[in-house]
Amino acid sequence: MAQHSLPGSGTAAETPVAPAQRKRFRVHHLAEHKEAGRKITMLTAYDTITGRIFDEAGIDVLLVGDSMGDNTLGYENTIPVTLDEMVVSARAVARAAKHSMVLVDLPFGSYEASPEQALASAVRLFKESGAQAVKIEGGKRVAPHVELLTGAGIPVFGHLGFTPQSENMLGGKRVQGRGDEAAELLCEDALALQEAGAVAVVLEMVPAPVAARATEILRIPTIGIGAGSEVDGQVLVWTDMAGMGDWSPRFAKQFGQVGQALSDAARAYVGEVQSATFPAPEHQYEH
Ligand code: KIV
Repeated sequence: MAQHSLPGSGTAAETPVAPAQRKRFRVHHLAEHKEAGRKITMLTAYDTITGRIFDEAGIDVLLVGDSMGDNTLGYENTIPVTLDEMVVSARAVARAAKHSMVLVDLPFGSYEASPEQALASAVRLFKESGAQAVKIEGGKRVAPHVELLTGAGIPVFGHLGFTPQSENMLGGKRVQGRGDEAAELLCEDALALQEAGAVAVVLEMVPAPVAARATEILRIPTIGIGAGSEVDGQVLVWTDMAGMGDWSPRFAKQFGQVGQALSDAARAYVGEVQSATFPAPEHQYEH
């Protein structure tokens, strides 16, 4: 079957998909990708500029992650991020996304109290942003939340392993699912999310063999971040992927040095304004 007729750009060896030919990546494509062994690509985006660039690059799922808290809003972690902030950011990304699915995190405090609270938050995100799926952190504990949202027509991604909203309980950013008992519990949580109707599960900072085992036992796809290669897809925080800062986690590869390029451009601009070489005649209007 011609790979390029399907959503997503497939492997580098395949013919790239022209943007105009790409269809919107939807929930059923998640299952199709898993079945065909085609990796799912996911990247965070927090605004229209990055949303457009990543959509055009062929990303299957744009995650409006609450990682915007520590990556673009200047917070220490994801915990202060509000539903209002997620709505604004999700709307900006959804406006840009022509082909990618737009997935939005329910932030800390917007769903834990009850399935009904989760539904109210997800409905608001859907109505006000145009997103197509939401992500919730947690396992069995949030299965009733997942079931209610799914029943209401809202696709839900689970998130297991290191769950940033619980970093205070987990004792910081630490690998989760190490040891037989913890690995078993993680697989049970993944199965509970699947039974509740989740369409995929993100596995963050999980030993590669544990992620591989979860991937094997689940019908729904697993998307790894620091979970090795034997998962159904990968997600990274875009600022880590593009080399925006001096530091990125061990599991993230820097595919570019965008931070340096931006800094160079800003310094060149400062220099040319100060020396009055910018604007040049071609940047000016005639009388
Ligand atoms: O908020 C986020 O960016 C995430 C990823 C780390 C998966 O949840």
